[in-house]
Amino acid sequence: MIILDTKKDYKNHIDILKFNGEIISLVPTMGNLHDGHLSLVKIAKKNSSKVITTIFVNPLQFGKNEDFASYPRTMNQDISKLKQLNCDILFAPKTKNEVFNNIDNLKNLEAGPKGNILCGKIRPGHFDGVLKVIYMLFQLTQPDLSVFGLKDFQQLYLIKRMAKMYFPKLKIISAPTIRTKNGLALSSRNSYLDKKSMKIAPVFYKILLDGVINLKNSNDVEKTVNYIKTNLEKNSFLVNYVSFLTTKLEKIKLNTPDKKILLSSVKLGQTRLIDNVEFS
Ligand code: PAF
Repeated sequence: MIILDTKKDYKNHIDILKFNGEIISLVPTMGNLHDGHLSLVKIAKKNSSKVITTIFVNPLQFGKNEDFASYPRTMNQDISKLKQLNCDILFAPKTKNEVFNNIDNLKNLEAGPKGNILCGKIRPGHFDGVLKVIYMLFQLTQPDLSVFGLKDFQQLYLIKRMAKMYFPKLKIISAPTIRTKNGLALSSRNSYLDKKSMKIAPVFYKILLDGVINLKNSNDVEKTVNYIKTNLEKNSFLVNYVSFLTTKLEKIKLNTPDKKILLSSVKLGQTRLIDNVEFS
């Protein structure tokens, strides 16, 4: 695996890949790689001839009081995991400037109203920061395809929309959420959970699954949202939001063929967890 940490070297390598007619896939990450990330790399591998993974803890997507400084950084372990999967290139920019040197061009790149609901409401500016870094990585790499996890459903939706607008030939692949045996969605932030919280955390997904069944039986969105919130609170979760929407992040209409989704974010102690369940 070739490891690069400057924009200049990275661009040179991309030029070579392009010249050789490779099908390039990009897996952007913030590192601390777990099986969820590795599943993205495996999907990329199946669908392209060269896989590039990026590791960059993007300061633009963290709020002032968030965990940018303490976000887990485990570069050596990440490198060995990527080598085992035969990832072709790792781009791990050594400074912010390797990605954001001409950030002024990005002033107008905003997530808009759909970036201000759900996680965007509790993390103002978060999705603007995500879109900016992904835009820069797409522009630098010009990949044929890029893979993102369905766990971060709102992020995936906004990236797909941005890609359609600015990189119309790029294919975005949505990857299923990888869970522990007891249902907890894998996330780098799970490493913040202590032993006791690790036992409680899987209940989050179970409550969401039960919530979807409850909606199907009651046909009443408001009642079901309250039912889910009460269940979550009973189990020590502090609710950030519980929301039923269409998969286009629009108001849900029951008894229609629209694809629907239950999205939720909670806090368990100091740790924020997010998850979702798609249904029709
Ligand atoms: O999902 C993540 O890890 C990050 O938000 C992403 C997409 C790599 C952008 O920094």
